[in-house]
Amino acid sequence: MPQPNAIEASLMLAAERAGDITPLVYDRLFAAQPAMRAEFWRDGSGAIRGEMLSRVIETILDLAGPRAYADQMIDCEIITHDAYGIPRSVFTTFFAIVAETVAAIAGPDWTPDMAAGWARLLADVDAIVAAAPNHEASWTAAPRAIA
Ligand code: HEM
Repeated sequence: MPQPNAIEASLMLAAERAGDITPLVYDRLFAAQPAMRAEFWRDGSGAIRGEMLSRVIETILDLAGPRAYADQMIDCEIITHDAYGIPRSVFTTFFAIVAETVAAIAGPDWTPDMAAGWARLLADVDAIVAAAPNHEASWTAAPRAIA
């Protein structure tokens, strides 16, 4: 199980050092996945990116802690984001980008516990994404007859 304190501590350290990490996360995302930039075409102010990252961070804290809802949250967001044209593989990328951003800000203060906690968390996200139900396939494979 990921080490909640180390993950939480790393996020707090990043916030103390860099303030709002939103621009750093998305700069890194767009460098790694340039096609994703255009997907945020509606987000002139950056409010959507900020709101999304805050939900992702809450999900990370749940995954690293009580794990009360993160699995369902990710499953659900995979479906809603399908409508925006976001491939599910980018979900794993996005969580990894958050980890890389936090590690880069922490620099020499990035501890082995933080690295281990994040590595486990990313493996968990990978497994959740891989196991997420493919609703589109089940809908198209078994269309309901309309009486
Ligand atoms: C668990 C992971 C994720 C969560 C919890 C999440 C959450 C959200 C939320 C809450 C919004 C709406 C924000 C608002 O309208 O104020 C949003 C929008 C959006 N998300 Fe995510 N997201 C996740 C993963 C991703 C990933 C991996 C991508 C790909 C880079 C992505 C791309 C987008 C885009 C393009 C929009 C804007 C869609 C629009 O035009 O309205 N999301 N996300």
